Amino acid sequence: MSDSDGNTVFTDKEKSADAVKTPVRVYCVGCYDMVHFGHANSIRQAKLMGDYLIVGVHSDADIIKYKGPPVMNERERYKMIRALKWVDEVVEGAPYYPELEEMKQYDADFIVHGSDITVDPDGNETYRHFRAAGKFKECQRTAGVSTTDLVGRMLLMTKTHHLQAHNPVTGDDITADKPGATSTSTMRSPYTGVSQFLPSTHILHQFASGIEPKPGDRIIYCAGAFDLFHAGHVDFLAEALKLGDYVIVGLHTDSEINRYDGSNYPIMNIHERTLSVLACRHVHEVVIGSPYKITEDLLNHFKIDIVVCGTRNTHVEPCVDGSDPYEIPKKKGIFRQVDSKSELSTQIIVDRIIANRLRFQRRNKAKEAKEMRLIDIMEKKKQEACAQET
Ligand code: CTP
Ligand code: C5P
Repeated sequence: MSDSDGNTVFTDKEKSADAVKTPVRVYCVGCYDMVHFGHANSIRQAKLMGDYLIVGVHSDADIIKYKGPPVMNERERYKMIRALKWVDEVVEGAPYYPELEEMKQYDADFIVHGSDITVDPDGNETYRHFRAAGKFKECQRTAGVSTTDLVGRMLLMTKTHHLQAHNPVTGDDITADKPGATSTSTMRSPYTGVSQFLPSTHILHQFASGIEPKPGDRIIYCAGAFDLFHAGHVDFLAEALKLGDYVIVGLHTDSEINRYDGSNYPIMNIHERTLSVLACRHVHEVVIGSPYKITEDLLNHFKIDIVVCGTRNTHVEPCVDGSDPYEIPKKKGIFRQVDSKSELSTQIIVDRIIANRLRFQRRNKAKEAKEMRLIDIMEKKKQEACAQET
């Protein structure tokens, strides 16, 4: 029914039918090892397909059994998925190969997975039963990032993903044309192999909270690298949020991180780090490339009430001019420290990978070989179907 201006008008009956509409429950499942913005983007898309999102995360024991040890343990992986702002519920230790029955148990209407292929131990496509039952929906896989790719970046210590990485003192480019700046793209699979991530304002818009501070909100500011966004960062941001109402994260530029952490860092460039941080439910806004020194201008511009820094794993390197980056908020009496109670750091994650270099290299190769086998089979099937048609 429409009014005289052509606007849709709902009858009381339609309104009450709408009010009792049962929410659509969506299910996703995965390892979610070293949660990155590709995982976050799949979860964001899944949430948009319904009203209530349940995410199953596999246990360490199952991942060890079917794939090889994860980099992040189950406690860390469960925490990371819970911290994603689109997630309503987490199923801990969800079965590695999902079954239709299991989805019914969660009262889910369908399962969502990315456009990459996953294969069960018998070489069959994992989601075939869900597809056959009309209970499968596909989301768009995010190109240019995977756990396998991140492991590759750390093992090879590649730098080609860095942006504007030049030595701030000499002005030398420390990325593409220097030794060691190899690409991880030795892989052929379009899924785990490296293709380029193309940051756009569209994806930024999709990840952004869109929430502005309300009058009277206490605005919190925290700055850092937030590289390989991890459970320690989540704990830190949860503590920071307790001090106010609205959290702004200032991300240091890639070249700033090169300066204070060495030229191999960051592992994720500023576009990638922006999306990872924006996906966190404790964050409302991100400053993409914030100044290392917290200036009066920055404090005024964002109307910041409190500046927060963690007590653990903190890089409070002096600025290039030797001054303390927190000098101004300290003088104004708005500087606070919080304890995340987590010892996790980007360096610990890199160390875990380096310590298990061979195991991870084998895992990466095996994963791609499995994908390539399935791609070949699918290609042959396609060719056979074409030949039959002609
Ligand atoms: N996913 C995605 N985009 C990516 C990476 C993952 O959409 N770039 C999606 C997958 O399609 C899946 C979910 O995230 O629906 C969980 O993925 P997971 O099983 O953790 O695998 P990967 O991140 O691909 O990790 P790996 O490379 O170790 O397989
Ligand atoms: O190291 P990075 O710059 O990414 O840290 C960003 C912020 O997170 C810092 O304030 C740091 O102290 C905090 N942090 C924390 N606990 C961790 C890791 C980081 O409080 N385990």
